[in-house]
Amino acid sequence: MMAFLWIPFFIALHFSTTVESSSCAVNGFPIVRNISEIPQDNYGRQGLSHITVAGSALHGFKEIEVWLQTFAPGARTPIHRHSCEEIFVVLKGSGTLYLASNSHKNYPGSPQEFPIFKNSTFFVPVNDAHQVWNTDEHEDLQVLVVISRPPVKV
Ligand SMILES: *[C@@H]1O[C@H](CO)[C@@H](O)[C@H](O)[C@H]1NC(C)=O
Ligand SMILES: *[C@@H]1O[C@H](CO)[C@@H](O)[C@H](O)[C@H]1NC(C)=O
Repeated sequence: MMAFLWIPFFIALHFSTTVESSSCAVNGFPIVRNISEIPQDNYGRQGLSHITVAGSALHGFKEIEVWLQTFAPGARTPIHRHSCEEIFVVLKGSGTLYLASNSHKNYPGSPQEFPIFKNSTFFVPVNDAHQVWNTDEHEDLQVLVVISRPPVKV
């Protein structure tokens, strides 16, 4: 009696797993990876370490990208904007977010300054010009960045 009940259950389970993995998983990409073994790059910016934890071009993710970025004291991103949602989690250190809101188009030269600190989180509204700057003189600033809708157009 129990066996008859279990067989459809397993078929249903197997079927749903197959459907899920074919629509969501990225083929051939390991499920668990050691971040210490993922290559880093500084894209020519001194004091920056960028790790694409998960990306569209590198790994085939379609909805989100995740980066781990470390800024040495004084290091910063260029001022840039992009048409995607972007959320930061500060893992280490502190610094300043400069944000020129779209709603202040007449004053692009005077961005708002937001102090960012360890265990803080912040987001950048879509298309707002921004810059992340490690304004601390001694400690590295490390952030985990989640970005929607890759590829990111800067
Ligand atoms: C992750 O990689 C680093 C650097 O290769 C290594 O030292 C560490 O042991 C690895 N961690 C695990 C759990 O394998
Ligand atoms: C960040 O804050 C949460 C909630 O208070 C806490 O559980 C966590 O330990 C904090 N993490 C760090 C790295 O301070």
